Amino acid sequence: MDNRAIGVFDSGLGGLTAVKELRRVLPCEHIIYFGDTGRVPYGTRSHSIIIRYAKQDIRFLTKFNIKALVVACGTVSSVALPEIGGDYDFPIRGVIDSTAFAAASATKNGRIGLLATAATVSSGSYVRRIAEIDPGLQVFSNAAPLLVPLVENGRFHRGDPVSTIVLREYLAPLLDAGIDTLILGCTHYPLLTDLIADICGGGVTLINSGLETAHAVAELLSRQDALCASGEGSIDCYVSDDPEGFARNAEAFLGFPVPRGAQLIDIDTY
Ligand code: DGL
Repeated sequence: MDNRAIGVFDSGLGGLTAVKELRRVLPCEHIIYFGDTGRVPYGTRSHSIIIRYAKQDIRFLTKFNIKALVVACGTVSSVALPEIGGDYDFPIRGVIDSTAFAAASATKNGRIGLLATAATVSSGSYVRRIAEIDPGLQVFSNAAPLLVPLVENGRFHRGDPVSTIVLREYLAPLLDAGIDTLILGCTHYPLLTDLIADICGGGVTLINSGLETAHAVAELLSRQDALCASGEGSIDCYVSDDPEGFARNAEAFLGFPVPRGAQLIDIDTY
C-alpha cells in the first residue's frame, strides 16, 4: 500500500479527461493535477520548448513526493517522454502505449485514424507503436492544431457550428481512407466526442486516450501493490494562469466540480 498522491499534468484542461477516469477506477487515490494554462497549447511548439515545459511541470509535481506520474498529454508523451522519461525515480505513464493497444484491439479492418496535435503527429509516436504491436495495421494521421484552442474556449457542444466545420475538414481524409477506428490522440478531444461521432457515424470506434491511460495506471499501481489503503480520494489542482477560469471549465471535463478550486503557481520558478 502507498498513500502518496499520483501526479498528473497536461498543457491545460485536457488531462482532466484522464483524471475523470482515474477517479472512477481508483476512487481512493489522491491526485495532484497541474494544468499549464499560461502556456497552452503545447502541440504547436518546437521539440526543445515542449521538453523544457515538460521538465518544469514534472519538477513542480515532484515536490509533492508523488508515487507515480501520469503524463496526460499526447504531445508531451510523444515528444518528451522518449527523451526524459527515464530521468526520474518514480514510475511515469504517458498516453501512447495503452491507447495504441486499445486501437489495435478495436480495429476490424486494420485501418486506424489518428487525430492529434501537430507535434504528436510529426513525432510518429503512434505509427511506430502500432507497427510494433502489429505491422499489418495501417495508421492514417491528421494534425488538428485548431482543436485545443476550441476546446479550451468551450466550443465542444454538440452542433457547435465552428467546431463542426473544423472537424469535418480534419476528419475528411481519415474517413476517405476507410478507417474503422479513430484515436482521439489528444486528451482534450474526448470533449468533442459527440461532434466527432456525428460526423464519423456508427461505423467508427473512438478511442479515448485519457480513459485507456487511467486503466493502465490502475493496473500498474495494483501490480506494484502501491494503491491507496482506503478512504476517500482527493483532487488538488494547480495552474499557471487564470485559476477561476480553469475551475469554471473543469466541470465539463471531470463531470463534477473541482472540489477546492485551483491554485495559481509560477511555473517559471521550476
Ligand atoms: N492535451 C494535450 C495533448 O494531449 C494538448 C496539447 C496542446 O496543448 O496542444 O496533446
